[in-house]
Amino acid sequence: MITRRDAAAPRWTAVVLGWATLSCLLVPAVSVKHENFKTCDQSGFCKRNRQFADDATASSSWVSPYALDAASITFKDGQLGATVLKTLNEGEEKVKLPLTVTFLDSGVARVTLDEEKRQKGDIQLRHDSQARKERYNEAGDWALVGGLKVSEGAALSEQAEQGYTKVFYGEGGKHQAVIRHQPFGIEFQRDGETQVKFNERGLLNLEHWRPKVEKPVEEKKEGEEEKKEGEEEKKEEQPQGEDESTWWEETFGGNTDSKPRGPEAVALDISFPGYEHVFGIPEHATSLSLKTTRGGEGNYNDPYRLYNADVFEYEMDSPMTLYGAIPFMQAHRKGSTVGVFWLNAAETWIDVTKQKTSANPLSLGVKGHTDTHTHWISESGLLDVFVFLGPTPQDLARQYGELTGYTAMPQSFAIAYHQCRWNYVTDEDVKDVDRKFDKHKIPYDVIWLDIEYTNEKKYFTWDPLTFVRPDTMHQHLDKRERKLVAIIDPHIKNTDNYPVIDELKKKDLAVKNKDGNQYEGWCWPGSSMWVDCFNPAAITWWKGLFKYDSFKGTAPNTFIWNDMNEPSVFNGPETTMPKDNLHFGNWEHRDVHNVNGLTFHNATYQALLERKKGEIRRPFALTRAFYSGSQRVGAMWTGDNLAEWSHLQASIPMVLNQGISGFPFAGADVGGFFGNPSKELLTRWYQAGIYYPFFRGHAHIDTRRREPYIPGSPYTELITQALRLRYSLLPAWYTAFHEAHTTGAPIIRPNFYVHPEDEAGFAIDDQLYIGSTGLLAKPVTSEGADSVSVYIADSQPYYDYFDYTVYKGAGPHTVPAPLEKIPLLMQGGHIIPRRDRPRRSSGLMRYDPFTLVVALDNEGSASGTLYLDDGETFNYQQGAFIHRRFNFDGKRNILTSSNLDNASRTAKLDAYLKTMDKVRIEKVIIIGAPKAWKGKDSVIVMEEGAKESARRKSVAAEFHEGKGKAANWLVVRDPKVGISRGWKIDFA
Ligand SMILES: *[C@@H]1O[C@H](CO)[C@@H](O)[C@H](O)[C@H]1NC(C)=O
Ligand SMILES: *[C@@H]1O[C@H](CO)[C@@H](O)[C@H](O)[C@H]1NC(C)=O
Repeated sequence: MITRRDAAAPRWTAVVLGWATLSCLLVPAVSVKHENFKTCDQSGFCKRNRQFADDATASSSWVSPYALDAASITFKDGQLGATVLKTLNEGEEKVKLPLTVTFLDSGVARVTLDEEKRQKGDIQLRHDSQARKERYNEAGDWALVGGLKVSEGAALSEQAEQGYTKVFYGEGGKHQAVIRHQPFGIEFQRDGETQVKFNERGLLNLEHWRPKVEKPVEEKKEGEEEKKEGEEEKKEEQPQGEDESTWWEETFGGNTDSKPRGPEAVALDISFPGYEHVFGIPEHATSLSLKTTRGGEGNYNDPYRLYNADVFEYEMDSPMTLYGAIPFMQAHRKGSTVGVFWLNAAETWIDVTKQKTSANPLSLGVKGHTDTHTHWISESGLLDVFVFLGPTPQDLARQYGELTGYTAMPQSFAIAYHQCRWNYVTDEDVKDVDRKFDKHKIPYDVIWLDIEYTNEKKYFTWDPLTFVRPDTMHQHLDKRERKLVAIIDPHIKNTDNYPVIDELKKKDLAVKNKDGNQYEGWCWPGSSMWVDCFNPAAITWWKGLFKYDSFKGTAPNTFIWNDMNEPSVFNGPETTMPKDNLHFGNWEHRDVHNVNGLTFHNATYQALLERKKGEIRRPFALTRAFYSGSQRVGAMWTGDNLAEWSHLQASIPMVLNQGISGFPFAGADVGGFFGNPSKELLTRWYQAGIYYPFFRGHAHIDTRRREPYIPGSPYTELITQALRLRYSLLPAWYTAFHEAHTTGAPIIRPNFYVHPEDEAGFAIDDQLYIGSTGLLAKPVTSEGADSVSVYIADSQPYYDYFDYTVYKGAGPHTVPAPLEKIPLLMQGGHIIPRRDRPRRSSGLMRYDPFTLVVALDNEGSASGTLYLDDGETFNYQQGAFIHRRFNFDGKRNILTSSNLDNASRTAKLDAYLKTMDKVRIEKVIIIGAPKAWKGKDSVIVMEEGAKESARRKSVAAEFHEGKGKAANWLVVRDPKVGISRGWKIDFA
């Protein structure tokens, strides 16, 4: 969280105090401070590259100055190497750029372009800088964990035309990379059809190193020093017409970036021919289907920006940067999904434009189509791009997950409800809130502590006056298997009598400034230093701080929240670190900025692995800043939102986008962080929040208390009802997490992912499917609604979750949604596992019986899965889990449970199964039951391994006739079949 009010930076406080006063007068004047963050025009390299694009587009004779030197081509072990030459000064000078194109076993291709001079360190740094000379080439060390096995089948094509090199790769050689030599460019084809094009528009631009040529200083004209920031510098005539004003230095918000290596941006245009929709590149408060960024009605004027930042009171419908960055984009059309992953950790901007070609009336069969063009611009580093050719969204999820890792399997409590506030003010307050949840019979699993629990913002300490007995507080929570999450941020208070800062300094583990001294900035504690988790020694040290004898007062049920790790620096440029700061290995902050949050989050994850003595447990660590790969170590939330309907609305596409971008354990602050939500908004937010994979209520220190028991009748009851719905569906959620963990599939899924052929639904981003359950939710996000329009993509019956009303037929359907009704449908064809007994926390549900909800499809069939394990340890990696497939065969009218995994039995599995032996199915509900079942009052149950006498037993059933538009249903009461066993229920 952040507020500007009591932060310590003096200069800044003055500014903000003025602003805060103003904003009180202009209610509801909360909005982002635009002037704190750069537009493309104020970011030198972005401006230069946009100008480059404009010049290239405007000129009909434009030719990209990059050419591949055919004589340099090598091809070995699935990798093509060559030199690309950048021609300068009408051919007089050529800059050598080493190219590699690597063809991976997964069918993914990787293209890198470097710069020989920098690679060899053959450049001079300015200002006596100690920075590294190479282009940053270690982003992959943090982001990538696999998927790099090279394809053995990739082969150079024999019959390439003059001026082209072609490589067949992918399964069965279905993919082809067509590399054009002059100008250099690559087309990626699947089954002979071009899907992705590099440098088609000639916007490839790799700013090569050059020495600074000192020019005679012109005398300053009067008044010139009053020139505003971001305004164009008055410049001399440049021989090449290039704008050098931001090459060697750049000032913004009173901070000057010294740029010791000069200009070094990389940019490339990537086109998706025939693709109208592109998705991904979180984090932005925007629609799922990305908008165009070059102006025009309803479009943006600025590119999407990726530069992790603490954006205070961020605005809706904007390409502005937010807290995290995942440079992974997918393009989708009917029958095909393809994508690119731009592996670069520096500040990045992405322009999106679309080009419509209408049908040609003269040539029959030439259909109209839309191409999407993108222009990627990063400040530094290698050009390093992965190309995915799909063809399905599921393929992309899997392949991207192979590279950057799948989402961590969370502990089961972590997907239940979290109660947070800035701040629960004392240990007694925590216990009191806990008791009130119990008194009102409201389930919750985790209570959170924001920064005020610390002793004067010194992490790893407790305020001795307010948190007197953290140990008994933890014990109190543990009685109901509840947990506590405490915040720990990367800024370490620079003060006396604080061993943590003493060690940080002594061991020299902090981020350095440009002169190589420990960098000091301002954050919550006032003067602070930042732990540099690029340094392995810093991770080791960080891990030690979490030991019980080090972080006293914590217990095995303490978990951690990492905030402010963009990093947020109150007095830094754009509220973050100077770009010329130095990290471990002397990489500049500019090179590593977007991956910084991940390294810190990972260090915390590593620290939490072994906090329970003798037991490795799954950590829980929430992060605000993230990059590709962060999904391996925890959850994220969308930062400091507002208690406004628009923010509730925006949270749905944002969380959906996280899901398709490989980081699905995501959620927004329920209720809205800033401001006081109306009771209606709060209720609707809970009704929507139950669909966030990460589900936490949170509130700013200046807001009124708003725990679910506060608003009173009927709101408290309605919120409780929503929470109970989440809790009863936890088995389905856990199964969805397991799927994400093993396949990369999103946990909540947008329409296009579930129905990739349904063109009318590609842009839909206000409704969602939960995992593979067929549950289709449409959260209410507007005030005063009493119905919602749910879009149905196929011809299956969709049953209302509560009253079994049937909605059928592709298109929009009006579904009642008064405040007391949560719009939730079940797509026919699915079997959904639930646990219906209300409990205080998810831990107390561990041995509860299950209900199976069988929603029949048009053929009278359905199937579904259930994944279960101990919810805490890593024993599942040694086979200790239950994974069942349920199938209802509509022809034979038999419901079966079979094992989805037949790996050999391990001791860990046996031990786990023993604990689950008595856990049974207590109810089966068949929705859409055939009329012919009317009068049916029993079914035959057969369980494998049961005693002889019980092997075939008759169990009572009740048939119910649906009223009005509701389907019929049949309930089987207590078949008593074990959840871990095979069984059959015969309905014939
Ligand atoms: C995470 O931490 C481990 C050390 O415990 C280190 O080996 C690894 O490189 C780190 N990964 C990232 C992404 O920071
Ligand atoms: C179970 O075993 C069979 C035969 O060995 C195999 O074909 C099948 O893929 C296995 N199923 C799973 C889920 O591992």
